[in-house]
Amino acid sequence: MYIKSLLFACFLLFLGGNYVTAQDYEYIGAAKCKMCHNKPATGAQYKQWADSKHAKAMESLKGDEKNDPKCLKCHSTVGHVDEDLIASLKVEEGVSCESCHGPGSGYKAKSVMISREKSIAKGLIIPDESTCTACHNEESPHFKGFNYEEYLAKVIHPVPEKE
Ligand code: HEC
Ligand code: HEC
Ligand code: HEC
Ligand code: HEC
Repeated sequence: MYIKSLLFACFLLFLGGNYVTAQDYEYIGAAKCKMCHNKPATGAQYKQWADSKHAKAMESLKGDEKNDPKCLKCHSTVGHVDEDLIASLKVEEGVSCESCHGPGSGYKAKSVMISREKSIAKGLIIPDESTCTACHNEESPHFKGFNYEEYLAKVIHPVPEKE
């Protein structure tokens, strides 16, 4: 009896866990991250990203390509996420913060963001090589190969060490 109710409780937990992923977090766009991540003292991640090819990835698409799902899936965050989960993300943002860090509606609050554990529990992704190779692969018509260390060095935006 005890085992049975324990199993049932586990089952409910399992359903509950799935429910949370089923409602999922929404994509809020880079402008929201900019509010807190554009100070030079903490690394100005927004500016670093805005100056990168990722932020300009839509500029590489010409004419009809800008609406072609085959190109958008890698050239804009909008192109590879569930439409229902788009809050204030714009297609022009190209490969935006949330392509690599996950949808921000759950972790964007300061009380969450100050803790890495809480942020991850609310959807933050700490990217690794597999995050990149979702797009940097042979399906890309202009694939130039991908060396993680080399490519990472060009787009990394760390918080500077305190003196
Ligand atoms: C209300 C302010 C605020 C907003 C909005 C915000 N952040 Fe943060 N974020 C912080 C703070 C504070 C930290 C703690 C680290 C630090 O000192 O910069 C942090 C840390 C992070 C980290 C580092 C996590 C770690 O432990 O390595 C990432 C990645 C991050 N934020 C991404 C984002 C992204 C992407 C967005 C937009 C979707 C965003 N943040 C929006 C305040 C914010
Ligand atoms: C699988 C992901 C993916 C798809 C699909 C994709 N691209 Fe790209 N594209 C990339 C990546 C990644 C780069 C950066 C090149 C590199 O370093 O490999 C790129 C670069 C480019 C460039 C810059 C040219 C250059 O030499 O760097 C153009 C133009 C471009 N893509 C157009 C397109 C068009 C048009 C489509 C749709 C027909 C498309 N891409 C589909 C990932 C993709
Ligand atoms: C959502 C798809 C996507 C993801 C995820 C992604 N990239 Fe990209 N990346 C692109 C596209 C598209 C371009 C080409 C932008 C352009 O020039 O139009 C690009 C360009 C680049 C470039 C510039 C290459 C050049 O020719 O100068 C670097 C460096 C790069 N990416 C590194 C990374 C790294 C490192 C990661 C993982 C941490 C990553 N990318 C994740 C899509 C992606
Ligand atoms: C192409 C993928 C990619 C994009 C786009 C991207 N990031 Fe990151 N970000 C990374 C990677 C990779 C790291 C390093 C993760 C680690 O600590 O191993 C990182 C780290 C961070 C950190 C922590 C830095 C530290 O030293 O602790 C912050 C904060 C952050 N990103 C914010 C942002 C914000 C804000 C944007 C958009 C304006 C953004 N990122 C866009 C890949 C990306």
